[in-house]
Amino acid sequence: MSLQSRHLLGLDGVPKQDIELILDTAVSFKEVLERPIKKVPPLQGKTIANLFFESSTRTRISFELAERRLSADVVSFAAAGSSVSKGETLKDTARNIEAMKIDMVVIRHASAGAAHFLSRVVKANVLNAGDGAHEHPTQALLDMFTLREKYGTLKGLRVCIVGDVLHSRVARSNIFGLTTMGVEVSLCGPATLMPRHIEQLGVRVFNTLDDVIPSVDVLNVLRVQLERQQGGFFPSLREYHRFFGVTKERVDRAGRAITIMHPGPINRDVELSADLADGEHSVILEQVTNGVAVRMAALYLLGTSSK
Ligand code: CP
Repeated sequence: MSLQSRHLLGLDGVPKQDIELILDTAVSFKEVLERPIKKVPPLQGKTIANLFFESSTRTRISFELAERRLSADVVSFAAAGSSVSKGETLKDTARNIEAMKIDMVVIRHASAGAAHFLSRVVKANVLNAGDGAHEHPTQALLDMFTLREKYGTLKGLRVCIVGDVLHSRVARSNIFGLTTMGVEVSLCGPATLMPRHIEQLGVRVFNTLDDVIPSVDVLNVLRVQLERQQGGFFPSLREYHRFFGVTKERVDRAGRAITIMHPGPINRDVELSADLADGEHSVILEQVTNGVAVRMAALYLLGTSSK
């Protein structure tokens, strides 16, 4: 069994069987991660470069751990302190990395399309660790893994993605992945942060949380990108919290358990109240744990494929 593509650039167009293959493979790797010795040999002899041109905590550490758990040799690159700060282009950086016989590249970049670009100029397998507001496929895969583990199936589940959908690569990858897997996806956020015609992707749009919360199983709460505050998308963080903050009071009104997800980093008591983030229905830290297993699965399937 192998994936249709030799890269993981996004979930747009990725078939259901490929998503299922990654999630099923991740189940085995999660079991490996629960052993006293959390290491297996499939990527022994492979070299993986992690190119992080933009800051990251969870994704960078998670990919590095996943690579080491699969016995790969790992080199990590951060834009600060590299020749990028001297004006080197992404293409030249990539070609130099290629000259060092790297087998796989994980890239995070502020520009949408950076991972696609790289996949055209290097022979290595490319995994997108987040490119601008475009896609963050492994985040959506780990979100789906977490939900499948909790509910047993994704089909028929009702998930609402809340917040700044316009600038969110997490939202885009989740929309593509979840709709492919038969999830009923809704979106809720300020009209200024909702892409026009987003309904064409098979989602429903709500403008108030109180309208959507009663009819969902899961709220996946997006980070308020504080750097957007100057852009006039919403008047103040206080206003944002008042209308779109996911709070215990709002969720309790549904009268039943609603699973709380967040990709991190959380702005506590802005988009999500601290009591819900740490509460019994939060799976936020499970998402982080599952991220390692899911990234191991993606790396393994791409790194051992003959494509
Ligand atoms: N979820 C996520 O992408 O977090 P980081 O930016 O810390 O990698």
